[in-house]
Amino acid sequence: MRVLLIGSGGREHALAWSIARSPALRELHAAPGSPGIAALATCHPVSSDDFEGLLGLAGALDVDLVVVGPEAPLVAGLGDLLRHSGVPVFGPGAEAARIEGSKSFAKDVMEAAGVPTARRLEDPRAPCVVKADGLAAGKGVVVCRTDEELAAGLEVARSYGDSVVIEELLEGPEVSVFGICDGVNVVALPAAQDFKRAFDGDEGPNTGGMGSYAPVPGLDAAAVEELLESVHRPVLRELARRGAPFVGTLFAGLMLTDDGPRVLEFNCRFGDPETQSILPLVDHDLLEVLATAAAGELAAGAVFPEADGAAVTVVLAARDYPTTGDRGTPIDGIAEAEAAGALVFHAGTALQGGRLVTNGGRVLNVTASGADLAEARARAYAAADLVRFDGARRREDIALAAAGR
Ligand code: AMP
Ligand code: GLY
Repeated sequence: MRVLLIGSGGREHALAWSIARSPALRELHAAPGSPGIAALATCHPVSSDDFEGLLGLAGALDVDLVVVGPEAPLVAGLGDLLRHSGVPVFGPGAEAARIEGSKSFAKDVMEAAGVPTARRLEDPRAPCVVKADGLAAGKGVVVCRTDEELAAGLEVARSYGDSVVIEELLEGPEVSVFGICDGVNVVALPAAQDFKRAFDGDEGPNTGGMGSYAPVPGLDAAAVEELLESVHRPVLRELARRGAPFVGTLFAGLMLTDDGPRVLEFNCRFGDPETQSILPLVDHDLLEVLATAAAGELAAGAVFPEADGAAVTVVLAARDYPTTGDRGTPIDGIAEAEAAGALVFHAGTALQGGRLVTNGGRVLNVTASGADLAEARARAYAAADLVRFDGARRREDIALAAAGR
């Protein structure tokens, strides 16, 4: 198969790594890709919002499958454009991608499908959660415990547009459950947890994610299958009923409350940095599964074999992330970390005169596997110790609590 992967982050590097292991792969191309992805694929300088450029590239390369990493092009209709032009694509069309692109659409679908979620509130009253309706790169949600927080939260959410969703405040651990969908059927990947806050102990501002681990203790394959049955399948049926079948990764962000799991949000793509921990655990031909899903041919009872062991990902970020990123600082030690058995995924790097340098907020993701979370965690941090760039910052408590369980 000839495959074109769209995107440039750590998630896409992990996808490229996994796809490159498939016996079915003949050529892997990426647009725009990254210095990390360039070791696995031919990178083309076409940005993920240049739809005509991507369509032209897919045609010129005569690809058998396009895999779309980020949400923005999906919400803007890249999946439809490619599919209507006869290019097989793993990623939903714009109407189905609204499950991520509009919080009120997602709520409507969940209510119609009977999926357990936070109750919608008519009137804003603390404690509650205020959410901007549209895409806000994770910054449009404010948890409000006091009236002051509520006033500030409404202001933030409305700065993204007038439409705001208000819902009850739930408590509990959060997990990410990815279902690979073909419009009708779904197969689950191991559950993962990410660490959204900037600092240890879940302090500080929200980020794109400072680390992740998989699987989640207590959520084995049977428990994940139950979540597919109560969350993903009803949503797939409801979207299909609305004429918007979902082909791609349906990512449920769930809170495990004392009253059972509740959906906080859906995303229409793989999560970042969860994917970096999940894919090394999947001893299965990912490309074959993505191509089968894109063709609408997943078997009704398809399951991945139960994941063996565990994986942990530590994000190495720039000094002032998430306020600002960093550019042009030399990076050393990646080969040493890889020699120690870790995978080093590039999230924000560039080549400057042949030298690898920082180019973003989250710079690298160091992933290691092990027999259990404790072993994976020790290996990931030991490998991360070997990678150096001026100002590098990381959380020290990724998977710490779960590894002790
Ligand atoms: P979302 O983009 O909807 O996932 O929200 C981002 C983050 O806000 C989630 O990962 C949660 O930490 C938090 N959050 C969202 N909705 C709720 C809720 N109903 N109760 C408590 N926390 C929430
Ligand atoms: N890790 C959460 C996300 O990708 O949105």
